[in-house]
Amino acid sequence: MSKSNKSQNEKKAVYPGSFDPITNGHVDIINRGLKVFDDIVIAVLENPKKKPLFTTQERISMIQEIFSDYDNTKVIAFDGLLVEFAKKNSAKVVIRGLRAISDFEYEFQMALMNRKLDPDIETFFMTPNLSYSFLSSNLVKEIFMLGGCLKDLVPKGVEKKLKEKFETEHPSLNL
Ligand code: PNS
Repeated sequence: MSKSNKSQNEKKAVYPGSFDPITNGHVDIINRGLKVFDDIVIAVLENPKKKPLFTTQERISMIQEIFSDYDNTKVIAFDGLLVEFAKKNSAKVVIRGLRAISDFEYEFQMALMNRKLDPDIETFFMTPNLSYSFLSSNLVKEIFMLGGCLKDLVPKGVEKKLKEKFETEHPSLNL
């Protein structure tokens, strides 16, 4: 197969999110996604209105570290419309994780709106391992701030970065 045909036939997907920070649930979805797609672009939302705990660059670095041995993932910041980002990166599929029924309404609305904006982009829902169905970045931050254990919830590097973040920027919490 010629190089140009190969790249046309490559199954590429975008996995967008805030990733503030990335959790083991996200990592699980990416690993599952790579069984279906040749390449996944992990798109990190750069939206200061959401007031993330970690800067865009910090969130990107944490993800890059986790997937440093992979040659089929790329981590890129994005703002603006997701469908535009997907098109610019030659991806026709957006992956979203569905943990529970409670996710469904928001995800359904977003998938249909994205289809209205660009009918060529498909949303692909994936479910994580059951052990991550209760996991979210917000809960991770809350558990960490309250001194709870993050074992099995986030990669080791993320736990370390959470510690550093609170030690340097919120030392009064005395964690
Ligand atoms: O991890 P999150 O915060 O649930 O991810 C939400 C995200 C980044 C997928 C969503 O906010 C998004 O796609 N933002 C880009 C702006 C956009 O395209 N909006 C229209 C979507 S209907």
